[in-house]
Amino acid sequence: MKKYFRIIFAIPVALFAIIQFFQPEKNRGEITQNHLFEQTALPEGVQTILKNACLDCHSNQTTYLWYHQIAPVSWMINSHIADGKAELNLSEWGNWEPLDQMGALDKMADEIKSGEMPLNAYVLMHPKAKLTEEQKEQFHAWSEKLSEELLLKMINE
Ligand code: HEC
Repeated sequence: MKKYFRIIFAIPVALFAIIQFFQPEKNRGEITQNHLFEQTALPEGVQTILKNACLDCHSNQTTYLWYHQIAPVSWMINSHIADGKAELNLSEWGNWEPLDQMGALDKMADEIKSGEMPLNAYVLMHPKAKLTEEQKEQFHAWSEKLSEELLLKMINE
């Protein structure tokens, strides 16, 4: 009987050890000229919002916490990053047309305002990602301002 129990415990432990060999590739690209932060001068508060709440899933640069390296958590994180980047990758900002940039600004402000973004699971693990009403308003005001600038630039070109 004792032996039986030992096997019952050994199986999950062995499985856990084995899955550690199957790790997704990390999202650690170089920051290029196309990154939003390189393309336009952002107020510090807006940079903080994006850094604390968005860029881990919406850029080519994720800051990993220690337990993010452990499967199956690493798989879950990787799928959030892949899906997030497919929708919006702020490292590629410079590659987009002004109209697409304006669309992205509008969507980002909407997602923040409605509380859809950042994802709840993320906020739970990253307390700094919880945005205050003031931060949401600051983001909204900035997004409108940049949109207007982009529009003027388009008209003048
Ligand atoms: C934990 C990862 C994660 C974080 C952090 C995160 N997002 Fe997302 N985001 C996703 C994923 C996954 C999707 C695609 C699936 C979905 O819409 O839920 C997405 C989708 C989006 C979309 C497209 C929505 C649509 O329906 O077109 C926008 C815009 C967006 N996020 C903005 C933001 C902004 C702004 C922040 C920061 C305030 C943020 N996200 C933080 C993972 C994340």
